[in-house]
Amino acid sequence: MAGKVRSLLPPLLLAAAGLAGLLLLCVPTRDVREPPALKYGIVLDAGSSHTSMFIYKWPADKKNDTGIVGQHSSCDVPGGGISSYADNPSGASQSLVGCLEQALRDVPKERHAGTPLYLGATAGMRLLNLTNPEASTSVLTAVTHTLTQYPFDFRGARILSGQEEGVFGWVTANYLLENFIKYGWVGRWFRPRKGTLGAMDLGGASTQITFETTSPAEDRASEVQLHLYGQHYRVYTHSFLCYGRDQVLQRLLASALQTHGFHPCWPRGFSTQVLLGDVYQSPCTMAQRPQTFNSSARVSLSGSSDPHLCRDLVSGLFSFSSCPFSRCSFNGVFQRVAGNFVAFSAFFYTVDFLRTSMGLPVATLQQLEAAAVNVCNQTWAQLQARVPGQRARLADYCAGAMFVQQLLSRGYGFDERAFGGVIFQKKAADTAVGWALGYMLNLTNLIPADPPGLRKGTDFSSWVVLLLLFASALLAALVLLLRQVHSAKLPSTI
Ligand SMILES: *[C@@H]1O[C@H](CO)[C@@H](O)[C@H](O)[C@H]1NC(C)=O
Ligand SMILES: *[C@@H]1O[C@H](CO)[C@@H](O)[C@H](O)[C@H]1NC(C)=O
Ligand SMILES: *[C@@H]1O[C@H](CO)[C@@H](O)[C@H](O)[C@H]1NC(C)=O
Ligand SMILES: *[C@@H]1O[C@H](CO)[C@@H](O)[C@H](O)[C@H]1NC(C)=O
Repeated sequence: MAGKVRSLLPPLLLAAAGLAGLLLLCVPTRDVREPPALKYGIVLDAGSSHTSMFIYKWPADKKNDTGIVGQHSSCDVPGGGISSYADNPSGASQSLVGCLEQALRDVPKERHAGTPLYLGATAGMRLLNLTNPEASTSVLTAVTHTLTQYPFDFRGARILSGQEEGVFGWVTANYLLENFIKYGWVGRWFRPRKGTLGAMDLGGASTQITFETTSPAEDRASEVQLHLYGQHYRVYTHSFLCYGRDQVLQRLLASALQTHGFHPCWPRGFSTQVLLGDVYQSPCTMAQRPQTFNSSARVSLSGSSDPHLCRDLVSGLFSFSSCPFSRCSFNGVFQRVAGNFVAFSAFFYTVDFLRTSMGLPVATLQQLEAAAVNVCNQTWAQLQARVPGQRARLADYCAGAMFVQQLLSRGYGFDERAFGGVIFQKKAADTAVGWALGYMLNLTNLIPADPPGLRKGTDFSSWVVLLLLFASALLAALVLLLRQVHSAKLPSTI
């Protein structure tokens, strides 16, 4: 009996060795080692309505892998966007201090000096630079002065172009969703077959649409060529200035004042005093500005809960009268939409409001339209009763929903099939989707232009040979085991 057990030992050992070898080959090497030290990077996203700070982290020994960089923490700067401090630039820099103090705590002290810090400003500052370039320079100078006081590796405060904002948002989304390259179970990098996802961003002052395209753009200004991980991407991007949520609301307010004397997108029973200076100070309402008006005068404006008049008012934001290209979205802008999309920022918040707060389905374009009409048809009392908790600017959700619906269906020309390929999402892999991460990845060279190639060490062919070797060892062990068990059973059956 003891002899029988001993003869089972060699095949069992062989099987164990084969199994261990296979496991070692298939489990990514990084999981075997202990967690490596982390590196950090900080981006201040200075939007038109507010500034957010994002702290990112990644393993210090891995630089160029996709999906490696993630969000460590974030901070919302209190108050308005830095562009709202045109008359008080030092107020802009003071507003950042609370979040910067948090960054000092969130990033380990020994990493401070090696942590890159960027400030990127978007459409709010682009608008200020249009109307008052001296003021925008003063604001940037003031925040630069403050940011250099911190022990981080400050690498500049600047205004991003609409094109950069669109492309970096696209890079962020596809990086987080691992659509560029992916680390597979076989210990190899591969390019996922699903391809990239388009990105739609709705900010306070502008909206961006960015997607990979096969046909060359007829308008060179909207085409960007990217080299990421050895792959070439032809990307279409366009940023519509004055089509961000807050500027759209201002423009609708201006038209409501002029054409109706009431606001069809506001709920009946809601009324407020509107300061004319506020309505007309933005370059986005310049076209609607009366020749003479009293900027310190206040006008009383009430809502009328009229979905159809509201839709007409929103429609007026889009012009389809001329297109110098074979195909346009609106306002004569070349566009040929292709592929699936991820829609984030205010796209997400608007759709999330309809779904979660109003309890309305928005899976199809038709449902989105019905949901917008439903919100616009509520009186102020009904809306307040229906939406739990006091929500800031509740009266503006009708206009916001109507705008998103019109922008997608008429503006970009999405039909039901194309709309079915749009996901509304604000985060991926626990990281906010927006331009900030893509901006930092680009400036810190965390995405190489070259393919990851054979960086993993084990060459593919030797990996295959080893895999076959261990697999046959396992197989041989099993055959041996079966034979021995079989022969061990024979005597007792006689
Ligand atoms: C402001 O706009 C001008 C003209 O487009 C541009 O040259 C300048 O760089 C902008 N200023 C900043 C701070 O980006
Ligand atoms: C402008 O409006 C303010 C506030 O209503 C008023 O005090 C002022 O007299 C007005 N100015 C003119 C020129 O109408
Ligand atoms: C708005 O609501 C009323 C009832 O509250 C309903 O009779 C009417 O048909 C609705 N209008 C639209 C356009 O949905
Ligand atoms: C990462 O990318 C940089 C720049 O493209 C390159 O110099 C470096 O060798 C890459 N690192 C690894 C580990 O591939």
